[in-house]
Amino acid sequence: MPRVLTGITPSGTLHIGNYFGAMRPAIELQAGGDAYYFIADYHSMTAITDAAERRGFTQGIALDWLACGLDPAKAVFWRQSDVPEVCELTWLIGSLTPMGLLERAHSYKDKTAKGISPNFGLFAYPVLMAADILLYDTNVVPVGKDQKQHLEMTRDIAIKFNLTYGETLVVPEEQIREDVAVVPGLDGQKMSKSYGNTIEIFGDEKALRKKIMGIVMDSRTPAEPKPDAEKNLAIQLLRLVAPADVAADYENRLRAGGLGYGDLKKALFEHYWNYFAPYRVKRAELAANPDYVEQVLRDGAVRARVVADKVMARARQACGLR
Ligand code: ADP
Ligand code: TRP
Repeated sequence: MPRVLTGITPSGTLHIGNYFGAMRPAIELQAGGDAYYFIADYHSMTAITDAAERRGFTQGIALDWLACGLDPAKAVFWRQSDVPEVCELTWLIGSLTPMGLLERAHSYKDKTAKGISPNFGLFAYPVLMAADILLYDTNVVPVGKDQKQHLEMTRDIAIKFNLTYGETLVVPEEQIREDVAVVPGLDGQKMSKSYGNTIEIFGDEKALRKKIMGIVMDSRTPAEPKPDAEKNLAIQLLRLVAPADVAADYENRLRAGGLGYGDLKKALFEHYWNYFAPYRVKRAELAANPDYVEQVLRDGAVRARVVADKVMARARQACGLR
């Protein structure tokens, strides 16, 4: 049974790109029975410096995952910082990680290119992410395309550790879901909280309707046939939230001409809103019961630590720290 692991950084409100690119595939995989999912609060340190905000996002993301179907009876679900050994493994593997490898990381290059003055955390981020994965003998990591390079780095780092100290760490595989590899945002670019083009999973109905109705389209009249209908942003999003035949029907009507963009966006909003309706109910129930949510995370950390302790013992032994 391959062990599946993924993490999500609590640095903002989750959007449907996160849902279709990361959460839904992960939740589907929990049925396999060896799934490890964590809230990457250490990873939020480079993005957030307000303690209350970090706590709030962490709690919010716990609610989001549980509401969207993460089942703590099936998957191990914990807060990264509840197993601080991940920092110890970061040091062990970081000491073998070439500067050149980290300098080539997109995450680092993109931020410095934008003029953000990099700190150690930003530079070392791929090493912490590798430690997240390697600490739990992970076989498969389901992520979006943007994380591909980090998975390659994780593999390089694990292989190097094993060559240096003997077979110790499990070398993981990435799993990128091509059909939802990149969910487009309101402006057609990749949906990302850093581009301000997101549709949140949970949020205020009126504000979300406004966002979706505000999607900018071209100036062709409703009557005009649109041979490029499959590329239309609302169609692409509709395919995610509506049944396949419904989305195909809208696409055909757009292609043939006669479907106005306003009506298309209205349909997109309705399907989006209905898609997440049951999760919205569940989230409200969970939010009323914060002690339960905290207990789920603590129990998860206890279970995660059982694996982490074994891997750390092996790693310390291999490199002569014990
Ligand atoms: P953001 O770009 O909004 O900061 P994150 O980098 O925190 O999102 O991504 C968290 C997870 O969600 C990752 O696994 C990432 O690959 C996935 N993800 C984020 N945005 C998208 C998207 N637009 N399409 C598909 N997957 C995405
Ligand atoms: N860096 C990932 C992101 O921004 C989140 C993450 C942290 C992660 N550690 C991980 C994902 C380990 C998979 C495995 O989306």
